[in-house]
Amino acid sequence: MLITIPDLLSPGQVQAIRSKLDAAEWIDGRVTAGYQSMLAKDNMQIPEGHPVAQQVGELILQTLGSNLLFISAALPAKVFPPLFNRYSGGQSFGTHVDNSIRHVKGTSHRVRSDLSATLFFSAPEEYDGGELVVEDTYGIHSVKLPAGHMVVYPSSSLHHVRPVTRGARVSSFFWIQSMVRDDGERTLLFDLDNVTQRITAEEPSSPNAVRLTGLYHNLLRRWAEV
Ligand code: NI
Repeated sequence: MLITIPDLLSPGQVQAIRSKLDAAEWIDGRVTAGYQSMLAKDNMQIPEGHPVAQQVGELILQTLGSNLLFISAALPAKVFPPLFNRYSGGQSFGTHVDNSIRHVKGTSHRVRSDLSATLFFSAPEEYDGGELVVEDTYGIHSVKLPAGHMVVYPSSSLHHVRPVTRGARVSSFFWIQSMVRDDGERTLLFDLDNVTQRITAEEPSSPNAVRLTGLYHNLLRRWAEV
């Protein structure tokens, strides 16, 4: 399932973050690529552990922690500290699959990448190209979102970023280990949660709302690892 989280950050937050990111140090993005994706990857990144990356990353994590749509869709167990990349001057990232296990630099922490996220910091009008193209079982999705919006998609998907031929595309990217590792099970839970919330809003004391909530939690109990 590919899902868009709109307005994760406000325009004011995006603007403040962009000034910090634009003034930070940028290095060759191949530092965090695996052997195969190193051949496909051509972009710039802020070094892992850079103070700006840590500060903005912390704000993103806090915001995610209170975003109900993200929590319902991702059922997050762990989130990798956000990284930041920039594509300009024809840079692109060819077709690849993200590494399955990510080590958090300088720690013993590991995150299994069940979901990949891209949070956009450039408005679509600022650059040409730069679409994130994700191939999944339901076809090919081309994603280019307003600044402050985020896309989350299964890390098992083949994906690429099209060349940026004008301007610059700045974004944050990171991975999520979900309490429910299987994408099909997680999608069923998300759909069930949505229906349950709608029915509960319409008829708060309805026995059906209680039963649906029970069904949701009993499936989550069966499928979740915590
Ligand atoms: Ni990737």
